[in-house]
Amino acid sequence: MNRSDTFPERLRFIANRIRSRLKSLPQDVARLDETAVRTAYARWAPYYDLVFRAPFYKGRQEAVKHINTLSGHILEAGVGTGISLPKYRSDLEITGIDLSEEMLERARLRARDLPNVRELTTMDAGNLSFPDDHFDVAVAMYVITVVPDPARVMRELERVTKPGGTVILVNHFSADGGLRAHAERALERFADRLGWNTDFPKSRILTRTSMRLEKETTLAPFGLFTLMTFRKPEHPASAE
Ligand SMILES: C[S@@+](CC[C@H](N)C(=O)[O-])C[C@H]1O[C@@H](n2cnc3c(N)ncnc32)[C@H](O)[C@@H]1O
Repeated sequence: MNRSDTFPERLRFIANRIRSRLKSLPQDVARLDETAVRTAYARWAPYYDLVFRAPFYKGRQEAVKHINTLSGHILEAGVGTGISLPKYRSDLEITGIDLSEEMLERARLRARDLPNVRELTTMDAGNLSFPDDHFDVAVAMYVITVVPDPARVMRELERVTKPGGTVILVNHFSADGGLRAHAERALERFADRLGWNTDFPKSRILTRTSMRLEKETTLAPFGLFTLMTFRKPEHPASAE
């Protein structure tokens, strides 16, 4: 892109760059190992907000709205470009972690005017360096189907959350049947390019956690996304 380019030329340039990123992503996420995730999001970082602000808006809005009714220290795992950071209530303390340094750089810029953002650190959500029972709330928005080992991430989110605390997931999960399953199959190729695994049933999460699922809400657009709120048991052995 040159300084002398007209506005339509600049738009065309940006559209072509986005198209080439979308084409490259399936190979990047197919292996879903740590290197692939880092590589994919290093490429996505400059365009991430432009492409994913709108489709993921409702899920972020609902998750943060719920968190804003709670209190204490919040862990946002897979914080990305920090797109949700300005939406948290200003008296909530926020710690964000992400595997991608390029995504975090953008989050750090966003957090410059947000004194309640305590820390933004490069870290694997499947291997958190925080002590047990540390956070009041842990949230992962559009992350659980992108990580190499979702069960491990669930265990880590549960471990670092205080007994009686809340773990929130927002994600796309595959439907068992019906119209939605049909639409998902039709969307599968596109969805893979966006970087989430469409063949990811909720059972992969629900059968691997001792936390109680308190609430499940289907969200726009087209009911494609689900908000899940879990409660960590007060006592390790009790089902509460
Ligand atoms: C689809 S983006 C979601 C970003 C943000 N939560 C949002 O609402 O837009 C997924 C994010 O998860 C991060 N990620 C993927 N695997 C991760 C892991 N194992 N640990 C921490 N972050 C990870 C990626 O780097 C990326 O920033």
